[in-house]
Amino acid sequence: MYRIGKEEVKAVEKVIKSKELFRVKKRKGECDKFEEEWAKKIGTKYALLMSGGGTAALICGLVGLDIGPGDEVLIPSYTFMATATSVLMVGAIPVVVEVDETCTIDPIDLEKKITKNTKAVIPVHMVGFPCNMDKILDIAKKYNLKVLEDACQAVGGSYKGKRLGSIGDAGAYSFNWFKIISCGEGGCLVTNDRILYEKASIFHDSGTAFRPYASEFSIPIFLGLQFRADEIMGAIMRVQLKRLDKILKDLRKNKRRIMEELREIKGFKFAPSNDINGDCGVMIPFRFEDENIAKKFALNAGGYRPIDSKKHVWFDWKPIIEKRIWHKDVLNPYNFPENKDLRHTFTKEMYPKSIENLSKTVIVPVNPDWKEKEIKEKIKMFKKVLKDLKNE
Ligand SMILES: Cc1ncc(COP(=O)(O)O)c(C=O)c1O
Repeated sequence: MYRIGKEEVKAVEKVIKSKELFRVKKRKGECDKFEEEWAKKIGTKYALLMSGGGTAALICGLVGLDIGPGDEVLIPSYTFMATATSVLMVGAIPVVVEVDETCTIDPIDLEKKITKNTKAVIPVHMVGFPCNMDKILDIAKKYNLKVLEDACQAVGGSYKGKRLGSIGDAGAYSFNWFKIISCGEGGCLVTNDRILYEKASIFHDSGTAFRPYASEFSIPIFLGLQFRADEIMGAIMRVQLKRLDKILKDLRKNKRRIMEELREIKGFKFAPSNDINGDCGVMIPFRFEDENIAKKFALNAGGYRPIDSKKHVWFDWKPIIEKRIWHKDVLNPYNFPENKDLRHTFTKEMYPKSIENLSKTVIVPVNPDWKEKEIKEKIKMFKKVLKDLKNE
């Protein structure tokens, strides 16, 4: 749903004409400036732009949090597989937690799933829906867990006035396909923790740490992967950042307008939100009593039930379910001796609450560019579909 145009072309042209495509030797280049601007926008001390998308940002966040073999990390049953992937990439084991009616991680089940091996939780603000961060932070404090927010699908959203991603120990964003703002394959990590930032920076720069800053780090350089951003990415993101507020405003306005018009109609309700004002507005969640009615509504109203997304529910993460991680058995965290006693299996039957919530909810995408005429057509269509379902 990102918007892109002439301004990005101009910004990219400037970088190309400068012949300085890389950030490795530059101070105060496009990447640096974006990071400064992003940290300010989100309300954190540090931001680290990177290639490799939200997946890279999550991996670097987990590295920064010192998560590894022997650790369990709690993640929701409804998220893109990359959330679980990132945990496995640092050698730890993801443990699936139920989602509640908001389609985000269920704080009640979250607390139940904690064991002595649990080190962190990744609340995912799925499709722009904010998680219940107050409860999650209370639980994290009680059990001494780290919190890495996955705000990949909720860029710019907020919870009780704080930007998503800035509330836990660290936050990850995706600037990838179908995101609120985009530069192709970008991602970003934010945090207030200097050491976490240093570890993530070192890891994302193939163990060299992008040179102008390496000497400022207080910890020794260790080997990592190569997720460095380039100046073209930085330049595009600086323009995208300027577009963010207006996109969110339009999404929220369109979502609100449609919801207000449909609120009185019987036969469904809107799924609850942990903070409707901070919600990004990218999806309208319709909640039905009967999952078959939900299915029919989805079919006719241009939406889908999260359970049918094919990619975003735990039982669809085939390589993880089948434990095919890395290219050599010895590198597979499920085979690590440190992980031997951790929880490895997550069957469909283990998550009845998620099945119910993800089957009875239908999410319908909102377009920030809909104008009054299109909104009226949408409202008319929703009303007709809901009326037809009632008459069946
Ligand atoms: C919830 C969630 N987490 C993580 C990611 C990974 O982001 P990327 O694809 O940019 O690596 C995505 C991507 O869609 C996502 O939706």
